[in-house]
Amino acid sequence: MLDKVEHSIENALDSSLEKIEELYRHLTPGSAALSENAKEVFPSGITHDSRHQKPYGPYIARAEGSRKWDVDNNEYIDYVGGHGSHLLGHGNKAVIEAVQKTITSGTQVGGSTDLEVEHGQIVKEMVPCAERIRFTMSGTEATHLALRLARAYTGKSTIIRFTTHYHGWHDSVVVGYSSHFDGSAPRGISSQTAAETLLLPPGDIEAVTDVLTRRDDIAAILLEPTGSHFGLVPIQPEFVKQLRELTEKYGVVLIFDEVICGFRVAPGGAQQALGITPDMSTHAKIISGGLPGGAVCGKKAILDVLDFDVMAEREEEKVAHNGTFNANRVSAAAGIAMLQQIRDTDACERANQFAARLRNGMNQMFSDQGLGWAAYGTYSGFFIFTNPENLDIDPLNFDPCHYDAATLKLGRSGFPQKLVLALLTQGVHLAGFPGGWVSAVHSERDFEDTMTAFGNTVPLLKAESERASLTT
Ligand SMILES: Cc1ncc(COP(=O)(O)O)c(C=O)c1O
Repeated sequence: MLDKVEHSIENALDSSLEKIEELYRHLTPGSAALSENAKEVFPSGITHDSRHQKPYGPYIARAEGSRKWDVDNNEYIDYVGGHGSHLLGHGNKAVIEAVQKTITSGTQVGGSTDLEVEHGQIVKEMVPCAERIRFTMSGTEATHLALRLARAYTGKSTIIRFTTHYHGWHDSVVVGYSSHFDGSAPRGISSQTAAETLLLPPGDIEAVTDVLTRRDDIAAILLEPTGSHFGLVPIQPEFVKQLRELTEKYGVVLIFDEVICGFRVAPGGAQQALGITPDMSTHAKIISGGLPGGAVCGKKAILDVLDFDVMAEREEEKVAHNGTFNANRVSAAAGIAMLQQIRDTDACERANQFAARLRNGMNQMFSDQGLGWAAYGTYSGFFIFTNPENLDIDPLNFDPCHYDAATLKLGRSGFPQKLVLALLTQGVHLAGFPGGWVSAVHSERDFEDTMTAFGNTVPLLKAESERASLTT
């Protein structure tokens, strides 16, 4: 990418990080023009809060395998991975064939289909807690439904969640994810709804025990079982195990939000990897082959509250749930094709191994450069701790479990965005935490190119990081 421009990272290094933005703008005139048009259509010119990037994000024209190209034909190694949907990379052949075959014979056909049954069967086979399944159209819908089912099943209303854990954008799960850590209602959410969520510090089993012994209004505990954002703020498996024991003891529904980690950390998700079976789990992304879709899986006794006959027999009100595009044929076909490959190959393990290699490579580089940053994570994710407080850390021996959510998540304002921007100029697209997810098709060449890109940007970022810490 750099060959074709007279601007270069070396020139940028000579002066300051502002030059990075200049270089980025130089490389991406098509994206700049689209972002101007977009601002006339969408608030901030974007369609998802996490795509908020200064001065603008790249507009992607096509994607294949581990790579994607923007409208200016700049090539990127992709670590956003369809927000975690593409464990098998972009354009997986079997998924594409399944979609092509299905799309011509009806998408939403206004009735039950053979494909939804096959899709449900493979999910049931792979997900340990899945005695019954209800498909939704997104992860947000899945967590929304799971909370409704838990409340209906227990007859209780309060949900325990953990600070910074993400479960989509519906009203019950926004409090305390990226703001309002005191449990107060974010703008647009009623205080009544906010009060029905009890926020606890992730990993603090005493806090959970204290609530469960004192209160009898807790319907469910909802968590990301590998930690907030897949592990940006990790939690220990022991904590999850203790949650399982406590919820069983107190008759509280344990819900794993496996929207990201499901079918990724292992074919059966975190519940398989940890050997801990929740009462319900929520899914999206990979479950429908990277197409729109989601699901709630769980114990028959709980999902029975959706069942017409069971509820009629009990003379109880059935829980309502509709959704025009639930289990539509195209998403079902894509999901079957994706899940079969995950079930029958070592795709999860390959992605896990590549991510471990990336984390080690980055840490070696940070250490060699004397930069107090660290790449960490588990399974197929990586997170870059840019050390806003200038803590004394050794990149080669960094344990994120020693730090709290505030330290790990709330980076120096704007710096992660600068890192993402700098790497975009070097042909690497990170997710904004900063970090990313890898797929089973990231290759040796991707590893080498990523290391080169980091090698080009780390000295500049080191200088900027030191400059910023002097001014904070
Ligand atoms: C753990 C988790 N839960 C829920 C969601 C929401 O899923 P969706 O974006 O499909 O609504 C996400 C999305 O990234 C997620 O990561």
